[in-house]
Amino acid sequence: MEIITTVSALQQFTKQQRQTGKRIGLVPTMGAIHRGHLSLVSASNEQCGETIVSIFVNPLQFGPGEDFNRYPRTLENDLELLQVAGVSAVFVPGTDEMYPAGFDTAVHIGGVTAPFEGAARPGHFDGVATVVLKLFLAAGADAAFFGQKDYQQVCVIKKMVGDLNVPVEIVMCPIIREEDGLAMSSRNRYLSGEERRKAVVLSQCLADAELMVAHYHVRSSSVICQMIQDKLQTAGLSADYVSIADPATLQEIEEIDTAAVLLLAARIGTTRLIDNTLLLYAT
Ligand code: PAF
Repeated sequence: MEIITTVSALQQFTKQQRQTGKRIGLVPTMGAIHRGHLSLVSASNEQCGETIVSIFVNPLQFGPGEDFNRYPRTLENDLELLQVAGVSAVFVPGTDEMYPAGFDTAVHIGGVTAPFEGAARPGHFDGVATVVLKLFLAAGADAAFFGQKDYQQVCVIKKMVGDLNVPVEIVMCPIIREEDGLAMSSRNRYLSGEERRKAVVLSQCLADAELMVAHYHVRSSSVICQMIQDKLQTAGLSADYVSIADPATLQEIEEIDTAAVLLLAARIGTTRLIDNTLLLYAT
C-alpha cells in the first residue's frame, strides 16, 4: 500500500494505474477509520481494480466553535486497517498541500445545500464541495464511494458532479450500524457511556417511522416528525431538525405518497449526531 502526500504524486500514481486499464475507486475520508469506511472500501474493491483512500481533516468544512481541533486523528491505526482491507494507496496530504498560501477558491452548490446540515452549519457544504472536487481532480478516479449516513452530503456531491460534468460515478453505500442500531460515525467516540446508551434512540425513531409508513400506512410527515420529536425529548436529546423530504431535491414534503427520506440531527450533551432512512411507500 502506497502512502502518498502530494497531489502531483497522486496524479502520477493514478496515471500509471490507468495505463493498466484498471478502474480506480476513491474513498474520501477524514480518517478515524471504522467499519462504515471499511464497507466503502469493500464496495470500491468489488467495483474497481484499485482503491485509493484519502485521509484529510478538512478545515474548510468546520465552522467556528465546531470540533475541528478535537476531531479524532488516528493515522497509524487507520493505515493498518486500510492495509488489511486491500487498499492500493492512501492519500494523506497536509493542509498546505491542499490549501497552499494564496488559495482563494470555493465551490458553492445551491438548492440541496440550503436545508438541514446547510442551515445548521453555514459554509459546511462549500468546504465539503471544495475539498471533494480537489480530491476528484487529484485522484482522477472513475468512481467515488460515500456513505448514506451523510445523505445530504451525497446529494450535494451528486449535484456538483452533474452540474460541473465531473467524470466520476458517485456510489452511495448503506449505513453501517452498531449492534444496537447506532449509525457508525467517527464522532460516536465523543459520547460518554451514558450518552452512548441514550444515542440508540436515534435509530429507534427511524425504525418506528419506517413501521408507521410501511405497516400502518401513515402518510403525514408532521405526524411522523412529531412522534420522533417527542421520543427524542423523552430520551433527553435535543433535536436540531427532524424532517421528511424528497430524496433527490431534499425539498420537504407534507404527504408521503412516493419515496421519501427522513433526516434527523440531535444533540446528546455536546455531541451532534445525524441519521436518516429512506422511507418506502407501500400502497
Ligand atoms: O464525509 C466525510 O468524511 C467528509 O465530509 C469528506 C467527504 C471526506 C470531505 O472532507
